[in-house]
Amino acid sequence: MTSTENLNVDFTPVTDWATDFDHADPQYNRNAHEIWAELRGTCPVAHSDRYGGTWLPTTHEYVREIAYDTENFTSRAVIVEKMVPPDPAPIGGAPPITSDPPFHIEARKLLLPPFAPKKIELWEPEVRKLCRGLLDSMMADVAEGKTIDAAADYAKRIPVNVISRMLGFPMSDEDLFLEFVHDVLEGIDDAPEIRFVKIERLIQYIIAQIEDHVENPRDDLTSYLMGVELFGEKLSVEHVGGSIILLLIAGIDTTWSAIGSSLWHLANNPDDLARLVADRSLIPTAVEEFLRVYAPVTMARLVAKDHDFHGCPMKVDDWVLLPFPAANLDPEVFPDADKVLIDRAENRHSAFGLGIHRCLGSNLARLELTIAIEEFIDRFPSFTLGGTEDDVTWSVGQIRGPRQLPVQVLAK
Ligand code: HEM
Repeated sequence: MTSTENLNVDFTPVTDWATDFDHADPQYNRNAHEIWAELRGTCPVAHSDRYGGTWLPTTHEYVREIAYDTENFTSRAVIVEKMVPPDPAPIGGAPPITSDPPFHIEARKLLLPPFAPKKIELWEPEVRKLCRGLLDSMMADVAEGKTIDAAADYAKRIPVNVISRMLGFPMSDEDLFLEFVHDVLEGIDDAPEIRFVKIERLIQYIIAQIEDHVENPRDDLTSYLMGVELFGEKLSVEHVGGSIILLLIAGIDTTWSAIGSSLWHLANNPDDLARLVADRSLIPTAVEEFLRVYAPVTMARLVAKDHDFHGCPMKVDDWVLLPFPAANLDPEVFPDADKVLIDRAENRHSAFGLGIHRCLGSNLARLELTIAIEEFIDRFPSFTLGGTEDDVTWSVGQIRGPRQLPVQVLAK
């Protein structure tokens, strides 16, 4: 995408990524791999005055160091925006991702049981059925030789459906959840007053859902959070609501982006597609390699104390982007880092983060990603990009993945 039309953003395009980067520039996600490679070689911690001051480390060593350093960096806010949110540490607005130690571990423990492998495995038949249904609805277009949109009509629809059902929210509101995701993650260049109104709409929706669960109790993740105890007491509405917002947002955009990027890779790499179709035993390593190379999630930290970070004078409340995807492409850590090797044997990637905030939903994410790829290539063993790279659009901001992905299904 070369224009900012319809993105509801207000920014000056970037001309120098080392001194003036903006991850909300549409060129950032489209060209992220090249930008990170260039910076890693020339300016491993870039700085920009935008958003009140933002740092961007691009080596695995630096990303790791910051992720593990909870003294000098706080998770009080993890999405870079124009205003530093007032929510005080250690709880933050969306626990546990916005919580710092020592509270963080307590908030995290509460969420571990519902995302344990045994609980998530139970979703396999449902996810498979969902993927098959989505593919069924594309068949008419495929039969007529039309392109299909593997991002908007497939990748996007899978996680939003699963997390709405887990939370016990109306499925008819799925499009609204996608708007919330867009508002939170892509509306970062909105003026603070506009952003406030949008976030307030999300908060009010969640409060209404919690009230509905009080009136109509049912067995789901929302009821679980409302019933669980911390330090001998039920959670506050703010804590329940904040965690639900986290699950809704973290559950959707991330996995949608990972599925979309994996299908984008296969559409562009017929040899990898043919190998996967011919040998399903490669799926687990291919999934991990897609997660490494196309890791969708960059989180942020705020600087907690003025300090010097490898020669960079970091000041309280400066933003720091933590591009786990850039760490995954560091040639110091991964041999042939820039190559996609779908049978890569050793792959200790950091797509799910590093340190205490490591992703809680990784079992669910892997399940959805694996099934989405399996079902897609089962149905369409041969496909290619429908159009050129200019017809593919990419997300804006900290979560990276294709938003429109035209795919042409080919005869077997
Ligand atoms: C491919 C998909 C996904 C990726 C790549 C991903 C990545 C990440 C990353 C990098 C973090 C660390 C954040 C930080 O350090 O600040 C994280 C945290 C988290 N993720 Fe995911 N995520 C994915 C899917 C999911 C799903 C499906 C859920 C749940 C529905 C989820 C729930 C969470 C939660 C609750 C945290 C916070 C954990 C904590 O603060 O202790 N994620 N994720």
